[in-house]
Amino acid sequence: MLQSIIWSDGVLQLLNQTLLPAKVEYISCRDWQTVAEAIRRLEVRGAPAIGAAAAFGLVLGARELITDKEKFWTGLTEIAAALRKTRPTAVNLFWAIDRMLLVASRYDQGTDPAIVVAALEDEAKAIAAEDKEVNKKISLYGAQLFTRDEYAVLTHCNAGALATVAFGTALGVIRQAWSEGKIKRVFVDETRPLLQGARLTAWELAQENIPVTLITDNMAGWVMKKGMVQAVLVGADRIARNGDVANKIGTYSVAVLAKEHGIPFFVAAPVSTFDFTIASGADIPIEERSADEVSSFGGIRVAPDGIDIFNPAFDVTPNEYITAIITEYGVLRPPYDQAIADLANSEKIKIRR
Ligand code: MRU
Repeated sequence: MLQSIIWSDGVLQLLNQTLLPAKVEYISCRDWQTVAEAIRRLEVRGAPAIGAAAAFGLVLGARELITDKEKFWTGLTEIAAALRKTRPTAVNLFWAIDRMLLVASRYDQGTDPAIVVAALEDEAKAIAAEDKEVNKKISLYGAQLFTRDEYAVLTHCNAGALATVAFGTALGVIRQAWSEGKIKRVFVDETRPLLQGARLTAWELAQENIPVTLITDNMAGWVMKKGMVQAVLVGADRIARNGDVANKIGTYSVAVLAKEHGIPFFVAAPVSTFDFTIASGADIPIEERSADEVSSFGGIRVAPDGIDIFNPAFDVTPNEYITAIITEYGVLRPPYDQAIADLANSEKIKIRR
């Protein structure tokens, strides 16, 4: 399984996801600006992967400041602020930066910056290592939801190994359930406009010989109507206290279709994707991206010049469409405000956060 993020000899290697599946090429990040640009351009993407990349970005930035004791602390704060501005929706980005700054804040300002940088590097490595473990747990809990044999499932966007440090969330569950013989086929929405489904999810699954059928986004309803899928599994970018879920644009439409057809709709996400500070999905900032992503396809313009374009990168699925949320601590069921409050107050989580 290819890794989207590799930290080796003080250099961050990011698998350039904009080139997949045509080319497997890594970007060598030696400074934080290259990491920030990679996040902005979706060369690294997916909520947990963005968080881990930003954590290493902060290490690279801190390292540049190592010889300047005067500027170290203000510089660190400025780099953190710049990394926060790269993408607004996936809360894992902010969670990872907060976690890194918390580590730095344990040292007083007179400390040798080299000591702080070493602690930051350890923390970034811990964030990456934990993501692997967390995804394994999510996969095992999620696979238990598939009680009948021979399911076909549908997924949207890419919540796989590419979107995380390893295994994936929704795709981790699919991989695990497949290995247990519970899933026979995965329908993958192509996921316009940037085709994360076609380019990334279909590619990941095909590499492991998991049977995959690619469809365009507007085919999902018909596939459900024909009884071709028995469950939907997606990842998440931010989950509010009431269980509303922000994920890739188009997820909401799939959830509404699933409910109409009586098909369970599962979300798989780590605790780092929960935003315990917001009451509902109405408070989730939704990224809007360039009009070019919609007006062209494969680099060829497909819309008339000068046309108005709306390009939100995410949408919010209201909690009433969600059958269950799979986390590393188990499966949450409605009513979500209670289940998420219990999760937020649990001792295990307090220790980790
Ligand atoms: O714009 P992207 O490709 O970063 O959007 C990614 C998604 O919406 C994923 O489904 C989500 O981050 C979950 S990844 C485990």
